Amino acid sequence: MLPLVLLLLGLLEPRPAQGLPLYTRLPPTTLQALSAQGTRVLQAARRSAQWAVNRAALELQHSLHECGDCANRTVACPAGPGSPKPQATLLQDASEPGPCGKRHPGSVNVTRAHGRIVGGRAAPPGAWPWLVRLQLGGQPLCGGVLVAAAWVLTAAHCFAGASNELLWTVTLAAGHRGKPAEEVRVNRIVPHPEFDPQTFHNDLALVQLWTPVIPGGAARPVCLPQVSREPPVGTTCAIAGWGALFEDGPEAAVLREARVPLLSAHTCQRALGAGLHASTMLCAGYLAGGIDSCQGDSGGPLTCSEPGPSPREVLYGVTSWGDGCGEPGKPGVYTRVAVFKDWLQEQMSASPSSREPSCMELLAWEPSGEPRADAAQPCAFYSRLCPGSERACVHLALQQCLQRRGRCELRALAHTLLDLLRGAQDVLGLHPGRRLAPPASPAPPPREPPRRAAREQWLHAGSRAAGMRLRNPGPERHEGKDGCSGLASLKQKLAKLEATHAWILRVPEERLVMDFQEVLADLGSKTLSGLFRAWVRAGLGGHPVVFGGLVGLEPETLARSLPRLLLQALRAFRSAAPARRPGDPG
Ligand code: ARG
Repeated sequence: MLPLVLLLLGLLEPRPAQGLPLYTRLPPTTLQALSAQGTRVLQAARRSAQWAVNRAALELQHSLHECGDCANRTVACPAGPGSPKPQATLLQDASEPGPCGKRHPGSVNVTRAHGRIVGGRAAPPGAWPWLVRLQLGGQPLCGGVLVAAAWVLTAAHCFAGASNELLWTVTLAAGHRGKPAEEVRVNRIVPHPEFDPQTFHNDLALVQLWTPVIPGGAARPVCLPQVSREPPVGTTCAIAGWGALFEDGPEAAVLREARVPLLSAHTCQRALGAGLHASTMLCAGYLAGGIDSCQGDSGGPLTCSEPGPSPREVLYGVTSWGDGCGEPGKPGVYTRVAVFKDWLQEQMSASPSSREPSCMELLAWEPSGEPRADAAQPCAFYSRLCPGSERACVHLALQQCLQRRGRCELRALAHTLLDLLRGAQDVLGLHPGRRLAPPASPAPPPREPPRRAAREQWLHAGSRAAGMRLRNPGPERHEGKDGCSGLASLKQKLAKLEATHAWILRVPEERLVMDFQEVLADLGSKTLSGLFRAWVRAGLGGHPVVFGGLVGLEPETLARSLPRLLLQALRAFRSAAPARRPGDPG
């Protein structure tokens, strides 16, 4: 041990000697690359820790509400886990908590009649509380519209070639007074079954959020049309999004909005030709050009206000496609929401056991080993054909369910590894023979796929969003009839999560940096897989750790060994962190 410590302190230079091990140090460029990659891993670890703690806090909040113990809250209490179940929230009608389509006070009537996205007008804060951003691997690709506490409506074409829900996140509308926007995970993506990527026919998809929004918060749902008719031609409606400022132009840094009149089916068809299927598409805008939605606005809202004593915004269109942006004679095309109202209602009210469990649900579930598929909540779907509780069938159903869970785990793991490997190769400029890219996206649609460059760039970069194992059950899974019996255990769970993640959550943002100072490989220790035993000295936020690992010394073996080394570094930091005493500030 002593020579090793001396070596690490740099007092002893590695030296070849007969019969003695020969050491070599990784060069500074490799250390820098490792550090850069390690810092990314740290940031991802922090995000996922924060997410786990937030989720537990939200669960507790739900339960507190259930118990009528909301007196000291700072935010509105959410709908309780008992009724209605957040994951099965219906269309907003009398049963949906809070009114739909209400803009935040102070943001109403600020939009001038001819504000424009192309040419630019920023939306005032709080103007579009239902507008969300959909991110693939952390990269914003599309807009979306909150239509119920746990449901976002968007364009189906946003998911062409990337329908794995583990990779998507949704950023909700930001709160007032600089409150940051909340990013939530996606539980399920439900594209319209008849979406045609060639013609953009039925360009609509529902996205179920893993965590429903809190009623009364910054994000609130828009109203859906109650009848299948739209307002009369000529009605001026609103569009909004973060899309491009002009065709092939830069994205808007802030949310933009514009007002556009609805055009008749006849005008639309004349302007856009046979591509416009009036049964499912409507068009809006100015034939003179200049005001329009653009790339990146897809999935966002076209809302018209419904007058009355208490006016509200109703969603009539979802941004779908266009011929250029703001070109004269080429209005923008929107999916007609009103004609899909039955499909939307059906999807949002479907009982959880009527469809196959999502990977998110399966990864959040801890199988107990008991072969009772009926009790194993997410697996109920598979045992729906079991007559009574026929043992053999129940057993088979559970097996099927576990198999799917296994595939989900692999999928999540594969994405994490891909990301780590890709990152390591990028930073080091290494290209081991095989290309490690996820499957290519299908042929692009005929017009304006959603910011293809961004999508492809992402597709080759792997994902940061996936890979986590979810251990927290959804907020609806509590025992106890009144929702109060689980309170103590939820508090305990939150405290435990905070303590487990304190090591990373307590590092100040600016010090969340992994710094590899030295990697010393023992040249006499080559393993069968071509790796060498190594001692690593690294720092996190100024705190040093030393740990042992395996490292490759050729480009290919090195790239292969890096992900494991990074994970070991994470572990070393975690166990070196000072234990958190109960009562310490979080
Ligand atoms: N397809 C585009 C997107 O994916 C939306 C285009 C809208 N274009 C228009 N000219 N209105 O973001």
